[in-house]
Amino acid sequence: MDLDAATFIDEIAARLLDHVQAKDRPGRLSPSASLASMRRTLDLGLPLEGFGTDSVLDDLDTYLANSVKTNRPEFMNPLWGGLSLPALAGEIIAAATNNSMYTYELSPVATLIEQTLIKRMNELVGFSDGFGTFTTGGSNGNMLGMLCAREKHLPGSTKTGFDGRNMAVFVSAEAHYSVLMSSNVIGIGHQNIIKVACDEHGRMRPDRLMEELEFARQEGLVPLCIVATAGTTVRGAFDPIDELADIAHREGLWLHVDAAWGGACVFSTTHASLMAGVEKADSVCWDAHKMMSVPLMCSVFLIKEPEVLRRLCDHVSVAHYLFHSEAALDDLGRYSLQCARRNDALKLWIEWRVRGDAGWATMVDQHMADADHLQASINEHPSLEMMSERMWTNVCFRYTNPEAEDLNKLNAEIRHRLIQEGSFMVSRSNIGEDVILRMVLVNQNVTRSSLKRFLDRVVHHGDEICRGLPAEA
Ligand SMILES: Cc1ncc(COP(=O)(O)O)c(C=O)c1O
Repeated sequence: MDLDAATFIDEIAARLLDHVQAKDRPGRLSPSASLASMRRTLDLGLPLEGFGTDSVLDDLDTYLANSVKTNRPEFMNPLWGGLSLPALAGEIIAAATNNSMYTYELSPVATLIEQTLIKRMNELVGFSDGFGTFTTGGSNGNMLGMLCAREKHLPGSTKTGFDGRNMAVFVSAEAHYSVLMSSNVIGIGHQNIIKVACDEHGRMRPDRLMEELEFARQEGLVPLCIVATAGTTVRGAFDPIDELADIAHREGLWLHVDAAWGGACVFSTTHASLMAGVEKADSVCWDAHKMMSVPLMCSVFLIKEPEVLRRLCDHVSVAHYLFHSEAALDDLGRYSLQCARRNDALKLWIEWRVRGDAGWATMVDQHMADADHLQASINEHPSLEMMSERMWTNVCFRYTNPEAEDLNKLNAEIRHRLIQEGSFMVSRSNIGEDVILRMVLVNQNVTRSSLKRFLDRVVHHGDEICRGLPAEA
C-alpha cells in the first residue's frame, strides 16, 4: 500500500527529529558491524520489480542505523561535523525545489541568493569587484584557481590547449593533496608541483619559495602560480599570505589562497589577522561546509578579476538551448565548469540570515576558545603531549608513556580502540615521522564535558595498552 504524501512526509520528519535528538542519547557513534558483515547481512540489492513506497521507511531506517552519527559531540574526525537545523532546512528545500543554477530563468531567486553570498564573501576577503561561483568543494576550488592562473598566463589557452609539462606550481609542503589532483587534470603533472619547505609550525617559508622559484627557472620550468594555504589540513597552519603576495606580484605570478578550512577566520576581529594580505591574492577557495557547519557540500571560489573566470568558462554560443540572456552576470552557468549545478547557496544563506556576521564571529571565537581549553588540558596531563604549535582549531597531540616501546603504534592502537568501541572518532595523521591524533574543533555540538570525556578515554586506552590489556569486548 502506498502512503499518502502527508503521512509519508510525517514519517520522514519523525525520522529526522529522532536523528537530531539522538545526538544527546547514549549510543554508538558508528555501527558495530564490520563492512564485511554489513555486506553479508544488509539487503541492498536493486529489485527487478519495485517494492513501492512501503520499502522507503524500512530502507531509511536501515540507512540511519548503519551510518556514522556525524552530528554527535563525539564526532571530531574530519574538518566538518555537527548539524545545524536552519542549514538543514535549506538543504531539504533546495532538494525539493530541484533548481539548477545555470540560468536565472530556471533559478531566479536562487541566482540572486548565490550572487548575494558571492558578493559578501568577496567583500570579506577584500575583493571589492570580485566575482566567483559555488563549486563541488575545496578541491575543485583549488583546481579553478590553477586553471585561472593558466588562462591569465596564457590568454586563450582555454581554447587552444597548452603543454603543461614545463609549468610549475608552488605550494607548501603541507598543502592539501587536491593540488596534486588538479595538476593532473590541468596537464601540469604531479612532478611539477613544487613543495616548498615549511617552518617548524607548518607555514610555507618565503625564503625557501624564492630559492625554489630560482631553481625551477634554472631547470627550464615556467612558474605559473603560488598556492598559499590558510589553514592546513593537519596542523591548521596559515601560510604568510602577505609576504607570499608580495613575491607573487614581484614575480608576475598568480596567487591562489586555499582557505577551504581557515576562511571563516575573517569574521573574527581577534583571528582575521591569520589571513592578513588575502586581499592581495588573485583567487580564494573557501568551504562553508567546514568551519561554517553547513551540510556537505558548500564551497565557493572567489576571484578578483571576474573576466578571467568568464574566459575560462566560456562556451561561446554552443549551448543555445540554455543561454539566451545578454545579462551574462545573471546566468551563473557562464562562470562555472559545470552545466547542471545544484543549489548549494540556499542552505548557507538561510544559516547566515539566522546568525549574521556577528554569529559567525562568535562561532569562530568559541571554537578557538574550546581549542585553547583542550590544549591547556593536554599540557596539564602527564600522559599527553601537544605535537605542534596551534594556530587554528586543529589540536595535534599524542598519548605518551615512558614504558611504551613504540609511541606510533600505541597511538594508532588508541584510535583503533576508540572506533571499535564506538565512543569517539578522531583523525590519525602524521607530523614528520610521528603518528599523532588530530582533533579539530568544528562540530558545534562538542562541549567542554565531551572534550574531557574524550581525553579521559584516550588516556584510559593508552594506559591499558601499556599494561598489556586487550581491547574490551
Ligand atoms: C586545506 C584544504 N584544502 C582543500 C581541501 C579539499 O576540500 P574538499 O574536501 O571540499 O574538496 C581540504 C579538505 O580537507 C583541505 O583541508
